[in-house]
Amino acid sequence: MSRILSAVAWPYANGPRHIGHVAGFGVPSDVFSRYMRMAGHDVLMVSGTDEHGTPILVEAEKQGTTPQALADRYNRVIVEDLTALGLTYDLFTRTTTRNHYAVVQEMFRTVHKNGYMVEKTTMGAISPSTGRTLPDRYIEGTCPICGYDGARGDQCDNCGNQLDPIDLINPRSRVNGEAPKFVESTHFFLDLPAFASALETWLRGRKDWRPNVLNFSLNLIDDMRPRAMTRDIDWGIPVPLAGWEDNPNKRLYVWFDAVIGYLSASIEWARRSGDDDAWRQWWNDPEALSYYFMGKDNITFHSQIWPAELLAYDGEGDKGGTPGPYGELQLPTEVVSSEFLTMEGKKFASSRGIVIYVRDMLARYQPDALRYFISVAGPENQDADFTWADFLRRTNDELVAGWGNLVNRTASMIHKNFGEIPAAGELHEVDAALLRQSSEAFGKVGELIGTHRHRAGIDTAMRLVQEANRYVSETEPWKLTQDRERLGTVLNTAAQVVSDANTLLAPFLPHSAQKVHETLGGTGVFAPQPRIEEVTDLDDASRRYPVITGDYRDVPAWGSTRLVPGTAVAKPTPVFTKLDDSIVEEELARYQAR
Ligand code: MF3
Ligand code: ZN
Repeated sequence: MSRILSAVAWPYANGPRHIGHVAGFGVPSDVFSRYMRMAGHDVLMVSGTDEHGTPILVEAEKQGTTPQALADRYNRVIVEDLTALGLTYDLFTRTTTRNHYAVVQEMFRTVHKNGYMVEKTTMGAISPSTGRTLPDRYIEGTCPICGYDGARGDQCDNCGNQLDPIDLINPRSRVNGEAPKFVESTHFFLDLPAFASALETWLRGRKDWRPNVLNFSLNLIDDMRPRAMTRDIDWGIPVPLAGWEDNPNKRLYVWFDAVIGYLSASIEWARRSGDDDAWRQWWNDPEALSYYFMGKDNITFHSQIWPAELLAYDGEGDKGGTPGPYGELQLPTEVVSSEFLTMEGKKFASSRGIVIYVRDMLARYQPDALRYFISVAGPENQDADFTWADFLRRTNDELVAGWGNLVNRTASMIHKNFGEIPAAGELHEVDAALLRQSSEAFGKVGELIGTHRHRAGIDTAMRLVQEANRYVSETEPWKLTQDRERLGTVLNTAAQVVSDANTLLAPFLPHSAQKVHETLGGTGVFAPQPRIEEVTDLDDASRRYPVITGDYRDVPAWGSTRLVPGTAVAKPTPVFTKLDDSIVEEELARYQAR
């Protein structure tokens, strides 16, 4: 038994999330966590909404509301969507809790005390009309290198060069078009060069990462520069130092605070569980494992910035130091990053209507149909494309006609002929061979999920489903009504394999797994689901917010569970809904209409 931290990227609360987001961080982290619990491990799965920074501020301004009100609204939308998708967070919270503020400020203080926050003065862009800082990527202008007119303050997408906003020719704000003003500003920089060697040693020891993630991370080491961890912005966590704390226009950088969410959410979870120190088992113990799930645009922050923050807190950079009250915090075991999902060949762009919101998807289709598509065809090792035609085909041919049909015909024949799980007589070779294949699948699928190869994992489980369908076609139980013993043996075998396949598929398809379990006469919780709880902020009785949590301890073990002959089996109802071909045209028209 290992302790496993499933650290899931924090979605921005600046709008509803689309299926590309949940394909990146959501479904993969849940499949992994569900499997690890079934395999007997002690999993802590945490995340929350990311509520600071420019994206929230810009959207709030656009909607004429406050950043907090905006974050409140989308936090709830996101909580509802992720719950409906069945993501089993132990705690899904937010970055605007008092607990998060306190943990972030403690991290900053110790990192500063250890000497890794360096004060520097630089030229920063501000908006003349609002007096607010304009972040680099909100400035646009002509590239001084190639002359391209749509270059951004941080880089030129045409020639690929890194830029400084002050170098742009004819710079203008992407928010309101005005020319920015450049002024001197003092900030704290995380001394990344002081961690180059510690980070390299750590990364060189990471053998099992996806090669693209590891290579990308190793490349970052070659160009480590101090990086600003404070911003000229009035929305964020105050810098906990005299002279800074009360300055309403200086705040901690959103990425400094967001990644600390993994720790603060673990602490909040522990405090809510009644054992304030319980989080330490996942953070201080070098034997504990930690997996971070995200889309590829987040890699830098998880394989460079976050480990550097941890090393700085632990006092393990070139300047030494000692850990603060949280003790020595462990670095990630693995940064698990997905590639991007596109839609009908195009990049998701909410602003242009090229988007499928999780909410809209779940209003019209079964959550397991989406989870299936993402698991079997998602952007695991390379970019992947979502098309409605493919979604229709996968749902109808594989889920409905493959898995659903196997469950349905097996349960129907059992119900009709016996009304209960029949006992098996002597096994023929064809029965024994299928049962062997079935029990061997647990090792294979488990290994594949444990190493983040979900596509191959679900393929292996679905191959068993195909074999079982072939078995039923070949043994023709409908012709065996005169031979009750043989009929019982065949149906017992088929039911046992349905039960095994259902266990194998449960991490991927938890909603239908519960239903299949009941179809075979099972009772109780088979695949647990998360719930939304309205809680009071632990440190501010006036604030309430929804969290995702759940009780996931009571899960079936990863392996074959013998069905008990005599268990009553009722007439089954279909597990999956067949989709009409017309949905493809309908959905495409919906997006074109925007
Ligand atoms: N909000 C960021 C995004 O959507 C992800 C933050 S992950 C965190 O890209 F760990 F930093 F919170
Ligand atoms: Zn250029």
